[in-house]
Amino acid sequence: MLVNLRQRTYFLATACIIFIFSVAFYLRTEIALGASPIVEEHQTEEQIETPIPQKPKYKPEKASISPPIIDNFPLAAAAHSASDLPTIAPWNAPPSPHVPESTPLFIGFTRNWRLLQQVVVSYITSGWPPEDIYVVENTGVMNSNKNGQLSLQNPFFLNHTRLNMLGVNVLVTPTLFSFAQLQNFYLYTSIQHEWKHYFWSHMDVVAVSKEDSPPDYIPDSNSIYTHCVSALRDTAVPDPETGAAQRWAMRFFAYDNLALVNVDAFIEVGGWDTMIPFYMGDCDMHARIEMAGLSIKDEPAGLIYDVASSLEDLLVLYRKVGISPEWTDPNVLDDEQRAIAEEAERKAEESKLQGEMLEKGKREMVTGETEAVRGPATLHKNEIETQDQELHHEFLPPSPPPSISTFASDTPNSPTHFAPLLSTLDRMQNSKHASSRGRNTWQGRQVGGLGEPFYRDSEGFERAIGMAIDHGRAVFAEKWGHRGCDIVRIGMQAGDAWRVERDW
Ligand SMILES: *[C@@H]1O[C@H](CO)[C@@H](O)[C@H](O)[C@H]1NC(C)=O
Repeated sequence: MLVNLRQRTYFLATACIIFIFSVAFYLRTEIALGASPIVEEHQTEEQIETPIPQKPKYKPEKASISPPIIDNFPLAAAAHSASDLPTIAPWNAPPSPHVPESTPLFIGFTRNWRLLQQVVVSYITSGWPPEDIYVVENTGVMNSNKNGQLSLQNPFFLNHTRLNMLGVNVLVTPTLFSFAQLQNFYLYTSIQHEWKHYFWSHMDVVAVSKEDSPPDYIPDSNSIYTHCVSALRDTAVPDPETGAAQRWAMRFFAYDNLALVNVDAFIEVGGWDTMIPFYMGDCDMHARIEMAGLSIKDEPAGLIYDVASSLEDLLVLYRKVGISPEWTDPNVLDDEQRAIAEEAERKAEESKLQGEMLEKGKREMVTGETEAVRGPATLHKNEIETQDQELHHEFLPPSPPPSISTFASDTPNSPTHFAPLLSTLDRMQNSKHASSRGRNTWQGRQVGGLGEPFYRDSEGFERAIGMAIDHGRAVFAEKWGHRGCDIVRIGMQAGDAWRVERDW
């Protein structure tokens, strides 16, 4: 029995060893051949689990209805240096030497170069010393504009060379700021420079100094700049009743198109609430200023137009003899372009349908189809004309601009030149307010710049801002328990923020 048991043990052990060796050999061979059945099975499982990528379902393509952007200051575009730029009308020239007060003016920019160049030139020609103007480039494209990497067609394009030539400063924000953040950036910059006050202007305005009172030829007697300086000096006059220093926060010129800000007052109320990024931020800020007993007053400065489009040639703002205002109403242009786009779409749809019908052998449609295919070219005479003009601007060398000595200064308040300028600016303002797509369509009109640094989808950008605006409204409502702007009127006081139950 013992022998038997030992023999059986040996036999089993030998069998086991042989089995283990043969399995090991088999596996090695299999692995070496790279065809292990276990691994293969695993792969198959994974393939089943991984979803097959689906083609995204795209929104319908929209034809751009914006014509190409053409620079609105050809003379400056052709200039080699500042000395090639036209001179400012003598009655609007900035005081020389500079007034003792510092008078920095911030103009924020995110989109639309033509509007920006227009507002900058309008302040320069209204007597603002260019070296006091600070264009705040808030595009979020970092150094791309400074390095000249964006094209004129890009909504975020800004020409640093041009602005430097015009003698103004450009500050680049480190990232794209909301409206409230931008306002706080003006405050921050002023604190860094130790400015006790600053001016800021919307970028979608045109400033024109009044010329209708008879000029007494004292330089800058009527300019916007002079009015602003005297409004600033008035803030330093002690309160006539108490004899104490005025508690003031802001001065508004032409509603809030241009404003003067007291830095200490803004620090006192804690600046803008950046949690309310766009609209209602002003309600919140102005209410907190009022609650703190700080004054906001309106002051006259001159004519400041609220616009959505630009004059074709900014030279007209320099008030030269023989230079009349030119302007194309973007609403009319939009309607035309939209009609063209719709017509092209309709024709394309029609020819597609006809193509399908042709396939079915409907011979009677042949003539129709020929027309439809040819249609867009013949029908859109306007479009072709526009394209021709654009081709001229884009590809043909510009005709040499007349030299500056050709331009003599106009006379103040001239009926032949000043009156037409004002009436054109009036029409521009009316066009903005009459726009069928709302007042701020100028912000989203421009598309272009695909492939350039920091490219963003224009429509998507617009939509995202709209969402941030809605969010800001909701934050304001929660903050004050009230949805309207009239929080001071309904009795809210400093310190009530975030502590009041909703009233809706
Ligand atoms: C920027 O302005 C300069 C100076 O006026 C001009 O030479 C240049 O062509 C402009 N750049 C673009 C892209 O328009």
